[in-house]
Amino acid sequence: MASFVLLLILLSPPMSLPVAHCNDDSVGFQLKLTHVDAGTSYTKLQLLSRAIARSKARVAALQSVAALAAPVVDPITAARILVTASSGEFLVDLAIGTPPRYYTAIIDTGSDLIWTQCAPCLLCVDQPTPYFNARNSTTYRALPCRSPLCAALSYPACYQKVCVYQYYYGDTASTAGVLANETFTFGGTGTGNSTTKVRAPNVAFGCGSINAGDLASSSGMVGFGRGPLSLVSQLGPSRFSYCLTSYLSPTPSRLYFGVFANLNSTNTSSGTPVQSTPFVLNQALPNMYFLSLKGISLGTKRLPIDPLLFAINDDGTGGVIIDSGTSITWLQQDAYEAVRQGLLSSIPLPATNDTDIGLDTCFPWPPPPNVTVTVPDFVFHFDSANMTVPPENYMVIASTTGYLCLAMAPTGVGTIIGNYQQQNLHILYDVANSFLSFVPSPCNII
Ligand SMILES: *[C@@H]1O[C@H](CO)[C@@H](O)[C@H](O)[C@H]1NC(C)=O
Ligand SMILES: *[C@@H]1O[C@H](CO)[C@@H](O)[C@H](O)[C@H]1NC(C)=O
Ligand SMILES: *[C@@H]1O[C@H](CO)[C@@H](O)[C@H](O)[C@H]1NC(C)=O
Ligand SMILES: *[C@@H]1O[C@H](CO)[C@@H](O)[C@H](O)[C@H]1NC(C)=O
Ligand SMILES: *[C@@H]1O[C@H](CO)[C@@H](O)[C@H](O)[C@H]1NC(C)=O
Repeated sequence: MASFVLLLILLSPPMSLPVAHCNDDSVGFQLKLTHVDAGTSYTKLQLLSRAIARSKARVAALQSVAALAAPVVDPITAARILVTASSGEFLVDLAIGTPPRYYTAIIDTGSDLIWTQCAPCLLCVDQPTPYFNARNSTTYRALPCRSPLCAALSYPACYQKVCVYQYYYGDTASTAGVLANETFTFGGTGTGNSTTKVRAPNVAFGCGSINAGDLASSSGMVGFGRGPLSLVSQLGPSRFSYCLTSYLSPTPSRLYFGVFANLNSTNTSSGTPVQSTPFVLNQALPNMYFLSLKGISLGTKRLPIDPLLFAINDDGTGGVIIDSGTSITWLQQDAYEAVRQGLLSSIPLPATNDTDIGLDTCFPWPPPPNVTVTVPDFVFHFDSANMTVPPENYMVIASTTGYLCLAMAPTGVGTIIGNYQQQNLHILYDVANSFLSFVPSPCNII
């Protein structure tokens, strides 16, 4: 709190020119998604272990909250911790201000706020580019307290008529500063062949002067959640899609925004039709992408899982979230156990959990020559749509340790469908119409 008071004292709204409100209804662009570990010299196994560790940190924070005395602290805090406790998995390039200053940011479908660290910084974490200095931009404008987007904050505050925000990601990550309007620039960084530069004026963002956490070699975050402050909600039309290449592929994944986000022209691998399932609104966590999951099959065998295990509880806990920033899928404990039992009965090898990769359901690999192993497809049965996950997207061969492991983990609180299970699917989040669509696609072929 002391640092927050200090923030209020030191912040003085910089002077700048007013800008017109002119959001274009046909904004569209595509961006390269860079994996946070891209360009490092880790081995494939180390990369996967690191991703699993990050995802464990993301979920562990929630379990520590759930372990506190009931009632759960407050569900908003709980779920924010659920998917945003640690840094995300993908980075995008964008630019802020006029003239545009380029930087890299973590994209996060589990939170809303767009923010970067601003000078003068009271408490900042390491970042690769200089802090954004509002005095150098002609389009910066602090938002007044009466601004509707100020009211959309969970913890708005007012200082000299300027909107001050505080945003918490669970564990130790947080950001606080002035909520401001700026012009952002997307594309045009030489990251894609057909990428054109799009300038978006009047985007509300957090100019963070007190920040804590780990920005994973980026200079900020871009929220893609369902709430009013996210980039997808602020730019029209409010939809985006992404196509994640194979986990360890050198070809970067892609993010499509606005009019560029559609599955009609997707290069599909199997002639499988586009499938769609509605988002479910969790009143306690309205900015998160909840789905209605009814069951799971391994191959054609429907597993004995009570659909109620995937339901959202009255207190806002539970449910099923699709997330881009969690690597492996976290399954509600009893559902995980059913999947584990299903695998044990279809894979004729002795199961083990004695591995160094941090996964609990593993088999010795490769199998002895006289044993034939056929790993079935994994199917998520959503409301009105089935998502078929082939073995390479839910099992992982930890080759140096000699194991085939289920790339999923159990959790006591809700289910998170992670990005390992989303490889080579083109997935569209239609926020305006509240549904998710997906189609199998070789994402390395643009
Ligand atoms: C931005 O502003 C700061 C201080 O106002 C100044 O020191 C710096 O040189 C400026 N940078 C640019 C690129 O103008
Ligand atoms: C900020 O941008 C929004 C559009 O996103 C616009 O409605 C609003 O008037 C702007 N506020 C200021 C103070 O310029
Ligand atoms: C590993 O398996 C053993 C016995 O099968 C079990 O007691 C133990 O709890 C398991 N450990 C984990 C982390 O699942
Ligand atoms: C495979 O061969 C090993 C010995 O080489 C034997 O112990 C095992 O029972 C065989 N398994 C099957 C399924 O035939
Ligand atoms: C999903 O799969 C189930 C079981 O195979 C089938 O009964 C159902 O019709 C499928 N739904 C869709 C939308 O394809």
